[in-house]
Amino acid sequence: GVDLGKLLSQTGLVTLDPGFVNTAACESDITYIDGDAGILRYRGYPIEQLAEKSNFIEVSYLLIYGELPTQQQYAEFAERIKRHTLLHEDLKQFFDGFPRDAHPMPVLSSAVSALSTFYQDSLNPFDKDQVELSTARLLAKLPTIAAYAYKKSVGQPFLYPDNSLGLVENFLRMTFGFPAEPYEVDPVMARALDQLFILHADHEQNCSTSTVRMVGSSEANLFASISAGINALFGPLHGGANSAVLEMLEGIKANGGDVDSFVNRVKNKEPGVRLMGFGHRVYKNYDPRAAIIKKTADEVLTRLGSNDPLLDIALRLEEKALADDYFVDRKLYPNVDFYTGLIYKAMGFPTKFFTVLFALGRLPGWIAHWREMLEDPARKISRPRQVYTGSGERAYAPITER
Ligand code: ACO
Repeated sequence: GVDLGKLLSQTGLVTLDPGFVNTAACESDITYIDGDAGILRYRGYPIEQLAEKSNFIEVSYLLIYGELPTQQQYAEFAERIKRHTLLHEDLKQFFDGFPRDAHPMPVLSSAVSALSTFYQDSLNPFDKDQVELSTARLLAKLPTIAAYAYKKSVGQPFLYPDNSLGLVENFLRMTFGFPAEPYEVDPVMARALDQLFILHADHEQNCSTSTVRMVGSSEANLFASISAGINALFGPLHGGANSAVLEMLEGIKANGGDVDSFVNRVKNKEPGVRLMGFGHRVYKNYDPRAAIIKKTADEVLTRLGSNDPLLDIALRLEEKALADDYFVDRKLYPNVDFYTGLIYKAMGFPTKFFTVLFALGRLPGWIAHWREMLEDPARKISRPRQVYTGSGERAYAPITER
């Protein structure tokens, strides 16, 4: 029953832990990771079982409400989400304002931030009905926003959602379809994307989720907090890694497919050269999601008849790294992003868009954490301490005397 944090603050001592490598910021019931054993569970359910047997809507329910839904709960939840897929017509105009070559991640975060202006009743994070509404709106609208961001980038007309379709099918149609033209959703593609969303749905206190919690700890509403999380995900060391992997593979291909010299550059720690898609703060073993994705990559690429030479480069790179002391000693294994880019590419998504797909998958996890944080009786505004290393007291000199 000792509150160590309180005790420490009374002594005036602070712990310095850059990157929070050893510091827990909260207690959480949502996701369990054993990084040494390569275990990941959502609410106690192993990721392998969820990826094989569940679907993204059900996993979203599980993460947010803590239990798998009954049939009735599932039907109601899915229906509630369907009813909110449309964007306000005025929100559509936002997309016109962005440059055509805008990166879709800031487009996504801006549009989500703008939701607060369209739904001003959402501003009180303790209004339970509004939190439920905001939850449904986000789950429903983020795929529509993402599809519009895509359409904007390729200069094609927007498609309204077709609510006779499931969430992933609807998203694929809004992204790749054309108005007044039938769009056949490839079930293998839809299932693979659904599974990728499940695998990305939560990963406890990663950078973007911690951001969502931190922003939410000031009692900012759900839309503002999720928008901040999207911006955190944008960075290349986090969600941006899936695009960076593909750029790395393209670079190796352009260099004649020479995997050995690339690995040597990584080992020599050339500035800015890392084996993207490898390494993880928590996993010091094969990322369990990477194992599932590797199999999916194989299936999707075979199904779509994609004979992508980048897959061969990725496989050779993995084999080489796993047998090399540099990577073995540092416990660097493929993470979730090593193979996802290849799948997304085969599906027809441009590289810049990969991180948007990560955001769509991570959304229920962010929402679950934001809600858990606000319901936590031990909740406090996030406010880390620092160790000051700057100058001592100095007297101000007027500018004319400097
Ligand atoms: N390639 C080469 N060396 C690496 C890599 C890598 N991908 N990752 C870590 N290392 C090395 C570091 O140089 C360091 O070596 P040193 O001890 O000789 O200095 C050692 O391994 C430890 O690395 P840190 O950077 O301290 O590990 P940290 O936990 O801070 O970083 C991170 C984790 C950011 C994921 C890192 O492994 C990385 O940059 N990976 C590539 C980017 C990536 O794939 N990110 C996606 C992560 S998963 C996700 O967000 C979904």
